[in-house]
Amino acid sequence: MASSSLSSSSSLFRRLAVLQLAVAATLILTLGGAQAQLQYDYYNETCPGVEDLVREALLAKFADDMTLPASLLRLHFHDCFAAGCDATIMLKSHNGTAQRDADPNATVRGYEAIEDVKAKVEESCPLTVSCADIMAMAARDAVNFTRGPAYQVETGRRDGNVSRKEDAERSLPPADGNVTVLTGYFAAQNLSMKDMTVLSAAHTIGVAHCSSFSNRLYNYTGAGDQDPALDPEYAKNLTAVCTPEHMASVQTLDQVSPTTFDTGYFQSVYNHRALLASDAALLEDSFTAPYVTLMATNASYAPAFFQDFSVSMLKMGRIAVRTGTDGEIRATCAIYVD
Ligand code: HEM
Repeated sequence: MASSSLSSSSSLFRRLAVLQLAVAATLILTLGGAQAQLQYDYYNETCPGVEDLVREALLAKFADDMTLPASLLRLHFHDCFAAGCDATIMLKSHNGTAQRDADPNATVRGYEAIEDVKAKVEESCPLTVSCADIMAMAARDAVNFTRGPAYQVETGRRDGNVSRKEDAERSLPPADGNVTVLTGYFAAQNLSMKDMTVLSAAHTIGVAHCSSFSNRLYNYTGAGDQDPALDPEYAKNLTAVCTPEHMASVQTLDQVSPTTFDTGYFQSVYNHRALLASDAALLEDSFTAPYVTLMATNASYAPAFFQDFSVSMLKMGRIAVRTGTDGEIRATCAIYVD
């Protein structure tokens, strides 16, 4: 009896010890997973030179298509805001349920360029470099190619394999949002009002379709009126090109220097020549207006804007990233997931 109770208590201890070990192992794994972070030159050992390879592949493409840099900058933003920077915007769905099928992504472009670059990277380093990292590098190269800052990107992201339309619909800020609304969308991603102001200046390059701002021209308050914040001459020019039959045509987001990454965006906003209501809104708020005004009126602050933009892009590039053993590295970015 005594021996049987001894043996049963020792087996209990053994089981407890095993349980303790299991808990410890889980803790180590969990903490290890949480600690895995992005870093500079993550591919130094596993795919040396990958950043140069990506840049060179893109430069050839940019030379062919001057509109591509803006597309790739936007693509990275739309990927990061919807469920994290994990390339799930690239995934396709037969049923129209993936992120790229969402309305806010209707005019997003650049998917093929990322796929082409990924194919080149796969030739040198199979199953090593994530699509999400290539997208972050591409956004940086796009900024730098258009004469913006040459910031370093962190790498080590892994790709997700679930892409939900709702994530994009819920997370991407609306073009008619005021500063309070926009701030909410950025705060949800742990980005500050300053990040929002600075990152909005990505609109220093690229275009918007007339349909994205036509309410400012024709039906601002629902009474067939125009947005009074628009410079009248600018509004007249826009009305001439964005006629109801031409809603699919595009206009440049920055009226000063639409293909150069500079402070021209702030000048456009400051002079009431912002195309989108979300950009114009930055001049109406007591926190964001001083930054816009400073950058628009004092050329000597341009390097400070470049520095701010680099910092905010780094922060945006960290949104809900998958690292360590989370996620996957796949050969093709744009596979069908249903
Ligand atoms: C503040 C919130 C933002 C709103 C409401 C917004 C909205 C928009 C809209 C409506 C367009 C034009 C879509 C079209 O008509 O085709 C656009 C274009 C663009 N957006 Fe944003 N955006 C925001 C922030 C950002 C950020 C943070 C970035 C990047 C860091 C970015 C990068 C771009 C670029 C580069 C384009 C031009 C794309 C092209 O030419 O293909 N945007 N954005």
